[in-house]
Amino acid sequence: MASTTHIIGNLSSWLHPIQPNNSRRCFFKPCTFPIFKLKATNFAGTVRAFSTAFIDTKPADEIVVEKGVSTNKNVLACPICYEPLTLIGDSSLSIDSTSTSKLQCKTCKKTYIGNKTHVDLRAASGLKEYADPMPPATELFRLPLVSFLYERGWRQNFALGGFPGKEKEFELAKGYLKPVLGGNIIDASCGSGLFSRLFAKSGLFSMVVALDYSENMLQQCYEFVEKEENFPKEKLTLVRADISRLPFVSSSIDAVHAGAAIHCWPSPSSAVAEISRVLRPGGVLVATTFILDGPFTFIPFFGIISQKLTQISGNRFFQSEREFEELCGACGLVGFQCIRNQRFVMFSARKPS
Ligand SMILES: C[S@@+](CC[C@H](N)C(=O)[O-])C[C@H]1O[C@@H](n2cnc3c(N)ncnc32)[C@H](O)[C@@H]1O
Repeated sequence: MASTTHIIGNLSSWLHPIQPNNSRRCFFKPCTFPIFKLKATNFAGTVRAFSTAFIDTKPADEIVVEKGVSTNKNVLACPICYEPLTLIGDSSLSIDSTSTSKLQCKTCKKTYIGNKTHVDLRAASGLKEYADPMPPATELFRLPLVSFLYERGWRQNFALGGFPGKEKEFELAKGYLKPVLGGNIIDASCGSGLFSRLFAKSGLFSMVVALDYSENMLQQCYEFVEKEENFPKEKLTLVRADISRLPFVSSSIDAVHAGAAIHCWPSPSSAVAEISRVLRPGGVLVATTFILDGPFTFIPFFGIISQKLTQISGNRFFQSEREFEELCGACGLVGFQCIRNQRFVMFSARKPS
């Protein structure tokens, strides 16, 4: 536990920072962990674990592309055998070329065909009679109306649970992703691609894969990209896939980001195991979700109630950040860190070098 870095803070103070003498001083809520350190792109400081801890911040250092990041562009793999896929036709795959793309697995002799918006790399891709049964938490986001509303109000409601908003979350994630800047990143369960688009436009990554199970979320992402002028389309590829069966070559990925998604995944442990498989040594996972602790722990039989709700909805109700630390550790990820604000948590861990 000594290696664990936890910060429990009130991020709302970052949204209205006090700025004495050119430095931002952010006040944090009481914290129960012994010593804390957070480094993010636009601030660096030590958070102390006393009744009122604080962090002094300084302006961002210039982003430097880190050495050792992956330069291999051939990272897509067959979801059946995990052997690399061969692209037929276009010399590179991006959001602009998926409609004419064909990816072939020479081992399974299966061809994956792209459509206008994305390439479908599920094991069940192309099947006409059979469809995988998925839990409601996954199926909900496949509905065209939910996909349409997601970035038009639905996601903004997460602020009620303490989510600081996409710009602030992006800044926080960049802090954790610093060791892998310049490499490739998968935005896992990207939804309508709010972060995938930011990753692509930031110029901080060589390639961004926006991955989701919902074809309608991917459609929304495609439409948002189409509406933007000067979007770096060559950097972004949209992939339909199941988080528990990632279509990437083992040890080929520098970073995986998963915003507000792990609670929707049918099996978080299978998903984190898959993420661990595809991350290269030193590769980083950063994820956000909700933790239902605090007032929720006073609800009688909350454990039993949340279990039942999980069985019905497929949504997982996490009750402490230690669950993520345990999960990451069990899947071979190290250096667990996390930040809290009310029900919001962002955590990160990496593949050992
Ligand atoms: C709440 S949204 C998060 C979207 C976005 N990342 C964000 O930060 O707002 C959860 C996403 O998880 C996706 N999802 C659910 N089950 C999945 C699965 N088995 N494989 C891949 N994605 C899945 C949903 O389609 C949905 O887009």
